[in-house]
Amino acid sequence: MMLRNFSSKLAVFGFTAALGVLLTGSICSAQKPPVANYDESKVGTYTLPDPLVFQNGKPVTNGRDWAKRRLEILKLFEDDVYGHSPRPPKNIRYKVFDVDQHALGGKAIRKQVSIYFSPTKDTPREDLLLYLPAGVPRPVPIILSLNFRGNQAVTSDRGVKLAMLWDPKTQKQVRATEQSRGSDSTFDVPKVLARGYGFATIYYQDIEPDFAGGWRHGIQPLFFKPGQTAPAPDDWGAIGAWAYGLSRAMDYLEKDKDVDAKRVAVMGHSRLGKTALWAGAQDTRFALVIANCPGEGGASLMRRNYGETIPSMMIHFPFWFCGNLRKYADHINDLPVDAHELIALNAPRPVYVTAAEGDQWADPRGEFLAEVAAGPVYRLLGAEGLGTDQMPALNHPIQHTLAFHIRDGVHTVTEYDWDQFLNFADAHLRAK
Ligand code: GCU
Repeated sequence: MMLRNFSSKLAVFGFTAALGVLLTGSICSAQKPPVANYDESKVGTYTLPDPLVFQNGKPVTNGRDWAKRRLEILKLFEDDVYGHSPRPPKNIRYKVFDVDQHALGGKAIRKQVSIYFSPTKDTPREDLLLYLPAGVPRPVPIILSLNFRGNQAVTSDRGVKLAMLWDPKTQKQVRATEQSRGSDSTFDVPKVLARGYGFATIYYQDIEPDFAGGWRHGIQPLFFKPGQTAPAPDDWGAIGAWAYGLSRAMDYLEKDKDVDAKRVAVMGHSRLGKTALWAGAQDTRFALVIANCPGEGGASLMRRNYGETIPSMMIHFPFWFCGNLRKYADHINDLPVDAHELIALNAPRPVYVTAAEGDQWADPRGEFLAEVAAGPVYRLLGAEGLGTDQMPALNHPIQHTLAFHIRDGVHTVTEYDWDQFLNFADAHLRAK
């Protein structure tokens, strides 16, 4: 999931396909995954939908127009890509079950909070782990990220509650082990705190487990209409549910006086990078969005036939999206939106998308071109696009209101990535 380090592109595909099996439990044997293309000359031709033209053909010429056009685009993503999410609850129910004023050797204040998705039932709920930098005037800006391996994996702090992890094979929950503490090297909590930011995280499968049919064990049934027994074709999929969980975390952060809720960055890697983009698109309280290697179904242009494609995702991960997306799998050019518009839904807020040379599956160029194509919306709103349509060299970040880098290495989050994110956050959220 986190690492993809193969020189042979076919091996990359094989690994990812196998991963799909692992994560979904099984794949339908009748469906063969399409062979991934890695030849730029075979990407095909496409015309991107213009974010600055209304569906009735009229141009979008100012900020007021954009506010309306934005709603059109949002609805298209809800109808055909991620599905419709329920409205936010009127009140949120949460319980701060742990506070340690001297965590991480005195460098942090730790809080742990259960956030309930139902006004009456105690499950499902998400457990938020929050660290605030010690000795820094509060309220502080926060970086909020879903994590893959449980809250206990992001730090070796023994005070962190061991998560209940979902096993995709048995489709049952198992308590994370003591040994798993600090095992997720994609986070560097001390580094974030040292730069003056708080760090908040949630195990993503607290919200909905990540396998086909996982919705049965997650938050979706809480919102079914009377008599409803399964998600409708335009109901949210897992990405929508995970994004909803991020927004409920934001509800809590707004209540916490130690947190500056106007300066919360939402960050995610890979499928959780797709989720961060969709969370920011729907919930404008997120001040900044960081999508690390988000790939297809996130920042990569879906119309480009390179690396992972929507037809492939419809075999391995259809449940991440709404049922309607399947209709476009064989004619993606008819999908009324593309990834540049997902980025543009976040405008004029800062968005950072990353790519990695060894992550061709995610289509680095497709991620870059989506940001380029979101640029006109940013410029219309008086912000900056990427300022270039030339893919930068490896390890040469471009950081304006839109930011992008491609680094050497594989599909993961590295120290280098974090350094860039914190520089970007400093420029826009000004922690210092
Ligand atoms: C698979 C999937 C990607 C996804 C990645 C991840 O590789 O094909 O779309 O981004 O898993 O989330 O790690």
